[in-house]
Amino acid sequence: MSKVVVFDHPLIQHKLSIMRDKNTGTKEFRELLSEIAMLMVFEVTRDLETKEIDVETPITTCKCRVLSGKKLGIVPILRAGLGMVDGVINLVPAARVGHIGLYRDPKTLEPVEYYCKLPEDSENRELLILDPMLATGGSASAAISFIKQRGCHHMRLVNLIAAPEGIARIQKDHPDVDIYVAALDDHLNDHGYIVPGLGDAGDRLFGTK
Ligand code: URA
Repeated sequence: MSKVVVFDHPLIQHKLSIMRDKNTGTKEFRELLSEIAMLMVFEVTRDLETKEIDVETPITTCKCRVLSGKKLGIVPILRAGLGMVDGVINLVPAARVGHIGLYRDPKTLEPVEYYCKLPEDSENRELLILDPMLATGGSASAAISFIKQRGCHHMRLVNLIAAPEGIARIQKDHPDVDIYVAALDDHLNDHGYIVPGLGDAGDRLFGTK
């Protein structure tokens, strides 16, 4: 069963409250999303493997720890996931970046992949799938399935806000994928928006309507 980690850090909660406010403009929204993504990744990567190496400081030689496990990759789900990329890259500059885009087929209502480009060695990387809003979980679940079809089986899902419906969907479809969120909200409304949520993350991020 997927682990669900909800970050209750005061800085994250403070920044998220400003993002939720409908009067917060695009510039501030974008900056805050990036900052929260960076703070979240600090915790998402807490259990990465390290190994001991010898380092010569100006004073002496000492044993120090460096990352030793799988390299990281990040995969934003287009388009709102793009708003989380800079924050993650700030903290993990060596991470490779893939992209995946989906649309819903108007007839079958099934998610269809329209774009997917992953780093060449993605199968050997720990991939962080980024999407600010986990609503029904339909897109995130499909994105994870499409990425698994390409041989990648080490993934973590990182969302800003999740609805219980989305969490349940990922836990059912992908029990091997842990979920990291800044907030777990109440429910989805009839239009598929998270309540209380923050509205349409993509529109608020890019200033579209
Ligand atoms: N996508 C969004 O951007 N907002 C929601 O509330 C749900 C899905």
